[in-house]
Amino acid sequence: MATRIILDCDPGIDDALAIAFAHGHPGIDLVGITTVAGNVGLAKTTANALAVCEYVGAAGTPVTPGCAGPLLRPAQDARQVHGESGLGGAVLPAPAGSPAPGHAIEYITETVRAAPGEITLVATGPLTNIALAVKREPRLADWVREFVIMGGSAGRGNVTPAAEYNIWADPEAAAAVFRAGWTVVVLGLDVTLRTGAIPAVLARMRELGPLGTELLLPALDQYKSVSEPSGPPPQAARPAAPVHDVCAVAWVAAPELFGLVPARVQVETAGQLTAGMTVTDFEAPGFDAGNARVAMSIDVDGFWELTLGTYQRVAAAMGR
Ligand code: RIB
Ligand code: CA
Repeated sequence: MATRIILDCDPGIDDALAIAFAHGHPGIDLVGITTVAGNVGLAKTTANALAVCEYVGAAGTPVTPGCAGPLLRPAQDARQVHGESGLGGAVLPAPAGSPAPGHAIEYITETVRAAPGEITLVATGPLTNIALAVKREPRLADWVREFVIMGGSAGRGNVTPAAEYNIWADPEAAAAVFRAGWTVVVLGLDVTLRTGAIPAVLARMRELGPLGTELLLPALDQYKSVSEPSGPPPQAARPAAPVHDVCAVAWVAAPELFGLVPARVQVETAGQLTAGMTVTDFEAPGFDAGNARVAMSIDVDGFWELTLGTYQRVAAAMGR
């Protein structure tokens, strides 16, 4: 029985690769997508989600737009990483379809309410939609089957030395999400930075026909060319682009590839230098139930075998 998911995202290069994975993996039923401002503005994240769905063969997946900016802070996009379009060097046909009516918050709460215990909520962008959904309907925290994010880090950040982009972009939303009462499955930089698409991976993507040459490779080529400001100096372009968001949907499909550790995660919102830091206490659960299970290990070879095998399925079904 496939796991039914809603994917809340900000496509975004790795969000696009996560959509392709979610569509292609037989163990995942991509029920719907909701979009949020993040890597690029809401209009672009929404258009990108529609375009990627149509391109990979998932046309008809409802894409419902959400928040156009963070709860309190000004929006800060990541065009310097994902390019003006948000899909790096990938140029896909403009979507024929339109966004679904309504707002992401209602879509999330009503879809999960209608199927308590059945829907896994996955978020791979800033947590603005999620924070407002669970504020509007606190029982969401009980109704979801699982709540999985790509975000945060028990160690270094990637936007500042302390903070990872999805959390940094809307720390107030992230803080509210971690206080909502559910146990968050956290795929943070501790594991996602190990998923760089190395040349051997890129070579296998090149064998995937148009999926590889028109989407995966041109998208990653842009991603690869950006160094991360908070990495070890001197800043050199990263050797390979980490496909952060794919880890969130890969966990849904194959949790055995990851090692999770119980923790209490709290989000810094007041720090001048540390805003958006996910302060991760691995000792807390001994005293009070933690609010997270944080991925601290990954079978990288197994991850790429799974991911490339899933993309092979997508490519075959595209039949081009
Ligand atoms: O830090 C990586 C995260 O920020 C990914 O979700 C990427 O898409 C960007 O949103
Ligand atoms: Ca993202």
